[in-house]
Amino acid sequence: MKKTYLVFAAAACFGLTSQIAMAEVNVEKIYSSKCKMCHKIDKKKVGPAFKDMNTDPAVLKAAIADGRKMMPKFSKKLSGEEIDAMVSFIQSKQPAAANPCANNPCSK
Ligand code: HEC
Repeated sequence: MKKTYLVFAAAACFGLTSQIAMAEVNVEKIYSSKCKMCHKIDKKKVGPAFKDMNTDPAVLKAAIADGRKMMPKFSKKLSGEEIDAMVSFIQSKQPAAANPCANNPCSK
C-alpha cells in the first residue's frame, strides 16, 4: 500500500516537472540562432519585422511550421511547443492595438 502511494507520488512529480520544462522554451535562444538572420523585431530585413507580422496566431504558426516562399519550414527543427512559444513571442512584440491578445494569454 505504501509502495503504491510512493510510485503514484513520483509519477505526479514527474508530470509536474515535465510541464515546467515545456513552459521553459528558450524563445530568445531560438530567435537568435534560427530567426535573427532574417527577422528583426522592429525592422524589415530578409523577412518582415516581428512587430509587423500577421496578427492571426494560426497564420503565424502555419508560416513557421510549413514555411512560405523564402521562409524555411521549421516543423522538423522545432517542436510543437517551441513553435507555439515563437508565435507568442512574435505576438508579444506586436502593437497591443492591433492585437488585443498580445499581453494576455487569450491568444492560446
Ligand atoms: C532564410 C530567412 C528566414 C529565416 C531563417 C526565418 N524566416 Fe521567417 N520569413 C522569411 C521571409 C522572407 C518571410 C516572408 C514570406 C512571404 O513572402 O510571405 C517570412 C515570414 C515569416 C512569418 C509569416 C509572417 C506573416 O505576417 O504572415 C513568420 C511567422 C515567420 N517568418 C517566423 C519566423 C521564425 C519564428 C523564424 C525562426 C524560427 C523564422 N521566421 C526564420 C524569412 C526567414
